[in-house]
This record gives sequence, C-alpha cells and structure tokens, in this order.
Amino acid sequence: MKVNITETVLRDANQSLIATRMPFEDFEGILEKFDDAGYYSLECWGGATFDSCLRFLNEDPWERLRKIKSKVKKTKLQMLLRGQNLLGYKHYPDDVVRKFIQLSVDAGMDIIRVFDALNDYRNIKASVDEIIKQKAHAQGVIAYTLSPIHNLENYAKLGKELENMGVSSICVKDMAGIMGPKEAYDLIKTLKETVKLPIFLHTHSTTGLGPITYLKAVEAGCDGVDTAISSFSGGTSQPATETLNYSFKQMGFETGLNEKALKEINDFFKPVKDKYINSGLLDSFVLGTDTDALVYQVPGGMLSNLISQLKQQNAMNRLEEVLEETPRVRKDLGYPPLVTPMSQMVGTQAAANVLSGGRYKVVMKEVKAYIKGEYGKAPGEVDQELIKQVLGDEKPITCRPADLLEPTFEKTKAEIAGIAKTDEDIMSYILFPQVAEKFFKEREERAATKVSYTIVKV
Ligand code: CO
Repeated sequence: MKVNITETVLRDANQSLIATRMPFEDFEGILEKFDDAGYYSLECWGGATFDSCLRFLNEDPWERLRKIKSKVKKTKLQMLLRGQNLLGYKHYPDDVVRKFIQLSVDAGMDIIRVFDALNDYRNIKASVDEIIKQKAHAQGVIAYTLSPIHNLENYAKLGKELENMGVSSICVKDMAGIMGPKEAYDLIKTLKETVKLPIFLHTHSTTGLGPITYLKAVEAGCDGVDTAISSFSGGTSQPATETLNYSFKQMGFETGLNEKALKEINDFFKPVKDKYINSGLLDSFVLGTDTDALVYQVPGGMLSNLISQLKQQNAMNRLEEVLEETPRVRKDLGYPPLVTPMSQMVGTQAAANVLSGGRYKVVMKEVKAYIKGEYGKAPGEVDQELIKQVLGDEKPITCRPADLLEPTFEKTKAEIAGIAKTDEDIMSYILFPQVAEKFFKEREERAATKVSYTIVKV
C-alpha cells in the first residue's frame, strides 16, 4: 500500500515555528530539489503565508507562487484555504471567492485544501464548486477537535457531506496535535468505511503524539499524511518526513520518497534554521513537546501567536492563566474547533478575560460577530447568558453568512484603479487593504529607485 507524503516546510512548518517569516530567498535555492524527493505534494502557499508576504516580507504573494511553480515542475503544489474567509479573517462574497480561486489556479496551484473552522460546509461550498470548475483538486477538510459533541458518528456525517459536494479527497485536520493513535485508527477506519475518497491526515507534533498517530492512521487505511523535513519538524510543527518515511517503509508501506534527496533538502535547511535560532525568530519553546496541549487543546500556530502577543504586552507571566482560560472560553462558544480564525478569536478573548481583570469585561469584535452567527453555525450551544450579554436585542443570523454580502470585486477594481496594477493586486487589496496599499506604495518606490540607479550606472 502507498502512503502519500505532503511536505509542509514552506507553509505549515514555517507558520508554526517562525510565524511564517521565511522569505523566498531563504528557500529559493532548494526548490528544484523538491522534484527529486518523490513527494505527493508540496504545501507552499495559503494559510498565513499570503498575509505575511505582504505585511512583513515585502513580497508579492502571487509572485512567490509563480516563482515556486517555475522551479517545482513535477510535484503538485498545495495550499490551505479558509473557505469563505479565503486567507483573511472575515467572510468574502462569492464573486471574490471564485475570483481568488481562478487567480490561484492560474498562478500554478494544483491542490486546494479548503476548510471551514466550524465544519459548516455552507461556508466552503462556493470554493469547492469553483475549484472543481477550474479543474484543480478540491480537498475538503474535517476540522478535528475533542469535545462532548464531536464523535465518530458526527465525523462520518461530515465525511459523507464532503463526498456529496464532489471533493476529490478529504483531509482530517488535527491542528492542535491532540489526536491520539486509537482515535486516529477509529476515525480513519470509520471514514474509509463511509466514503470512497482518499483520506489524508494532518497533525502537529505539539503533544508528541504525531508520529504514533500517523502510524496507526496508516494502518487503518489512511492514504496520506503531512510531514516536515526534520530540521523544521517537531514541536508545534509536523512530525519529521525522514522519520515517518523510515517507519512506514519498515512497516511495509510504500512512500515513493528518495532518501538521498531528503538528506539534501534537510542539509539545506539546517543552516537556515540556525540563522532563525540566532536571530531569536525561532523560539526554542515551540520546538519542545508540550503535553499541556492535551488539556488546553491549543494548536501550534495559536500557541506561538499567544506567546508573541503576551510578550508584546509584557505579560508572559500570565501565559498559564491564559492557557487555563482558553477551554472555558471555548465551551462558552459552543466548542468551535481551534483552527483559524476561531483559534485566534478564542485565544485573544481568553487573554482579554485574564488581562482585563474580568471575564468578558471586554468582548472582542470578532467574538461578537461569531455569537451573532456571522461565521456560520456553532457546532454546539453558545452560552445563553453570553448571547444575552453580547447581543442584547440584536437578532442572530441563521442563513449562510455570505448570502448577505454584495459582490465586491468589480466595484473595488473601479475604486482602486490608480494603485492596483492587476487583478491579483485587487485581490490582495480586498484581503488586506491597508497592508496591500502600503506594499504597493513601497513597490513603486523600489521600482523608481531601481530605474534611477540604472540610469546612474549607465
Ligand atoms: Co496545521
């Protein structure tokens, strides 16, 4: 049996270990080598990479994707998309969602893994539909979480729902790294018995369960797993590619991976990692095994975000309290899985509850919107008292949230004709207006400097 391996070093490992701050120039030199390694796919875009390119790295994310595609010719490129939220943190209208997918596929994307934080599939319907229309691979996600309301029966129902939507495969996404080996075995077995599609599993090494969980998942018939090259593996990142490859092969599974190429890729990334450790970008805290996550269910990305947030506010000494408050906030909100944007929402609200000297003394704007139903339907019951406190006389939304949104792409295009050069620019602007505008301005300035420099040189 074949186990397909997706390499995450450029996206999830990058995002989980160093807050997505890896610039293109730091991995450009190894891109061609990925084609020799035999990966099923290379996760290299989406998630937080888009925001980070524009906000911190002064890179055009679309340009990054095209440059990767020009060097990685054989291996399928993969991205993570937050359904109706695309790569931002709110719902966008359907015309924007469809345009975003068209542009992504045009720029070279092959596999689009699309999820909704609440497993409310009304929120991924437009994306899945457009991915299929663009003849790309739509991978639907079941966001995994532990809660009194999430059980095998519920997950099987979600799998069936995805299959009926026409996705090409399903990914069970355990962002917090809380799935244990038996849970993996039972869940994958249930899904394989329920649907005919390939099933992929995504987890993190946060709690140390990752590799054991993957092994049992594969024994239950799992078709593929996500791993990170060893120098960027472990901790809040994925389990190591080489370690899993070694184990799978020993157990009689085929991976198609080439050990020599893996070694070269890892040797390339070792000094890159050292550089990040020396600059302080890579905090050793995220590399360890933290079994507290089995209690707190805090995903890798969320943990590193919380740490940097508390550091900024000089409140690192309150980390324990915030981590203890997190599951309580989650219960109040009807057990949303802790994936973006719910993870940020729950984390920030938990921090506010601790730091502002009273629970819900300050209610985040996003939490209010969630309670109102603007993100979709909560998996469980939202605390009645909290609804009353937050909404007052306002009425909650019960329809698909995006049905309330007017088309905006063409309108925005007309509005910002002066500052945006392409449809990709317009899309960047729709997702992150201020950040994109600043980026366009600086890009213009750089281009101008380049021209005058050339003239002087001549
Ligand atoms: Co992840």
